Amino acid sequence: MAYENILTEKRGKVGLITLNRPKALNALSSALMAEVATALDAFEKDERIGCVVLTGSEKAFAAGADIKEMQPLDFARAYLTDFITPWDRVARNRKPVIAAVAGYALGGGCELAMMCDFIIAADNARFGQPEITLGVVPGAGGTQRLTRFVGKSKAMEMCLTGRMMDAEEAERAGLVSRIVPLDDLMEEVMKVAEKIADFSLPVTMMVKESVNRAYETTLAEGIRFERRMFHASFATDDQSEGMGAFVEKRSPQFRNK
Ligand code: CAA
Repeated sequence: MAYENILTEKRGKVGLITLNRPKALNALSSALMAEVATALDAFEKDERIGCVVLTGSEKAFAAGADIKEMQPLDFARAYLTDFITPWDRVARNRKPVIAAVAGYALGGGCELAMMCDFIIAADNARFGQPEITLGVVPGAGGTQRLTRFVGKSKAMEMCLTGRMMDAEEAERAGLVSRIVPLDDLMEEVMKVAEKIADFSLPVTMMVKESVNRAYETTLAEGIRFERRMFHASFATDDQSEGMGAFVEKRSPQFRNK
């Protein structure tokens, strides 16, 4: 499939999506986000893919929703077209998705990174929700996901002032899982993605579903859900292989069944 706004590539068991609108700092137009959804659909269907990486350029992961596309919008058009809602596709991906963030991750760019399962940041990454400076509210989960990541005080300050956070502050605050030097970003992220993709796919998907439950339900319900997933994992061939390999002192060969 030929894309105009993204590049896609399969590297072994890892599906790589690179946002590619360099002249607009990867501003997230509706067309770009539709392509991201199509690419995710393809990787989701591809049984050989066990993990997806979403990245941008060294200067910008994404500088937000496309302001030039939004400028002429009025309420009726935004409401009738359910503007931005199709972006939720990223958060609904069932296979793990890692955001590899270098440079600006602003507005919708920060929100897109937060829709992924975790963020590995280059040391030049900058995160922010500058929508307030444009006279709008964040629209792709910024007020909700950022608050869950970094807590109310920091999220409130970021959303009310539009201030950017550098990579170190983002790591301290829990927004990113770790920081790596810019030059090593893709190599490091690919190593992590390959590691995940080598595990049992049904089990990595169950882990993802279980962790996400922690954000959607009570502790008691979340623990119940996890326990059911744990029991279900004993129905996979991969449980026999994983535990058998441990006992036999060899490396497991997961078959994703
Ligand atoms: N939408 C459309 N175009 C954008 C863009 C965006 N979000 N961000 C940057 N661009 C374009 C610029 O218009 C410029 O294009 P031209 O050369 O045609 O003028 C090009 O990208 C390069 O940008 P700058 O010249 O501004 O680059 P810079 O290095 O001087 O500044 C920046 C970089 C600080 C990121 C600055 O571009 C900026 O502030 N961008 C906007 C950030 C923003 O407000 N994002 C939030 C958008 S709203 C949103 O995302 C809503 C939501 O919650 C879903």
